[in-house]
Amino acid sequence: MKISISSQSLLEAKAQTLVLFLFEEKPLSQEVLLIDKELGGIIQTAIKEEKFTAKRSETVAVNISKGFGFTRVLLLGLGKKSKLSLLALRQGIGTAVKMLAKSNVQKIAVYVSKLPGRKLPTVQVAESLSLGALTAEYQFTEYKTVKKDLPTRIKELTFYTTYPLKVFNKGIEAGVIIANAINHARDYGNQPSNKANPSYLVTMAQEIAKTPKVRCRVLEREEMKKKKMEALLAVSQGAVHPPKFIILEYKGKPASKDWLVLVGKGITFDSGGISIKPGEKMDEMKFDMAGGGAVISAVEAIAHLKLTINVVALIPATENLPSGEAYKPGDIIGSAAGKTIEVINTDAEGRLILADALHYAKQYKPKAVVDFATLTGACVSALGTHVSGLMGNNSSLIQKIKQAGEISGDRVWELPLWEEYSKQMKSDIADLRNISTGQGGGAITAAAFLLEFIKEYSWAHLDIAGTAWSTEEKPFLGKGATGTGVALAVELARKWK
Ligand code: BES
Ligand code: ZN
Ligand code: ZN
Repeated sequence: MKISISSQSLLEAKAQTLVLFLFEEKPLSQEVLLIDKELGGIIQTAIKEEKFTAKRSETVAVNISKGFGFTRVLLLGLGKKSKLSLLALRQGIGTAVKMLAKSNVQKIAVYVSKLPGRKLPTVQVAESLSLGALTAEYQFTEYKTVKKDLPTRIKELTFYTTYPLKVFNKGIEAGVIIANAINHARDYGNQPSNKANPSYLVTMAQEIAKTPKVRCRVLEREEMKKKKMEALLAVSQGAVHPPKFIILEYKGKPASKDWLVLVGKGITFDSGGISIKPGEKMDEMKFDMAGGGAVISAVEAIAHLKLTINVVALIPATENLPSGEAYKPGDIIGSAAGKTIEVINTDAEGRLILADALHYAKQYKPKAVVDFATLTGACVSALGTHVSGLMGNNSSLIQKIKQAGEISGDRVWELPLWEEYSKQMKSDIADLRNISTGQGGGAITAAAFLLEFIKEYSWAHLDIAGTAWSTEEKPFLGKGATGTGVALAVELARKWK
């Protein structure tokens, strides 16, 4: 979809469908009344006859007789003016785009005049709109061979806006960059694991390293052995595809030694290993590298946005599979940090590979480390699928992430990481066990395990198990991998000082 802007009158718009935003509040604004008059009263007719109340993402399509460059108008509700948020804009336009694409529309015009309510900066309005449109249009079609099964796509979207064009355009450019990165992260998550193995993630990271100031390095098994990454190596034992430890650096502030470290869980398939998972939904475990995909894509976006920050993504990548050589329940393994771990359940593998990555992070003397991981089913039980679990050891970092979550739309909710939980991770015969001794609280005890590997830096952990994958089609987003975490990481990097 090509996105452009125009300062022409919207009545000059040349498109198949014109999208108009409306709010719940009555009476209608002077501006809307004027537009309605020009369009022959269709808005007030729709409100009366179609009982259109302009609730969030409510739509009604109206045909226009003639005399305009467009033949249909889609009225899109944005809810209450006072409650208008960037997320509401993003989901609203997403709903319109998805709907219009289904009805074969190829060219749309969207009218955006000064939005009311809470003060929303122009640049963020434009960014959210372009991002919402492009992520709504995404479909994973690589393996469809029959052309008629392919979805139709919107070719052109033009914003007719009363906002200052230069600033609005800046927002669009950023929105396009971030949306592309999100959609790439979704590609990585949707790719089946017979294609997306650890080497595939390496190829994707190397592709991004072609961008100025980005560098990719990969630790192979031999180097992992030298660095005593025994936890990552143990998880990879049962797999045929070799593990990879990916390091993707962007140096946007070369004179500075400050680093923001992003760590992403890169399990390209999680069968559970010897503690094998039930068959139902096991196919979905191809997205267990969503954290890794998100941090690779975040670096992609940060580099294209040319942010003045040094950021590195660390991705321990492997499959978790059973075999005669696989690690087993009861095994005691080492780790790069030197701590010993009693493996009680081979399905709690994410925390093991993250332990070695979090230890590796130390050498950057990071300002902060944030990990993104589809870590626990318990997090899905606790919070559902609309919000990621957030835990950490530093309240100001937690605060920053909460703010980034609000702005980016990747919403987060903090869970308590109290020391009682850490006690539950002690083993009788090794330093740690990989699952808790107690009942419940699995999202927190997993984080408590990670905390054991963090000594010298501020750290936050995002459990994205519930948010990284969508089993239901949403009006503004298709099924499958969601790309969660990319926008949040970008927002965090932007705010970084
Ligand atoms: N990758 C899973 C967590 C997961 C579950 C992600 C559902 C997305 C959706 C993780 O490796 C895992 O299997 N965790 C176990 C931990 C348990 C053995 C303590 C779990 O959540 O069941
Ligand atoms: Zn697992
Ligand atoms: Zn897993």
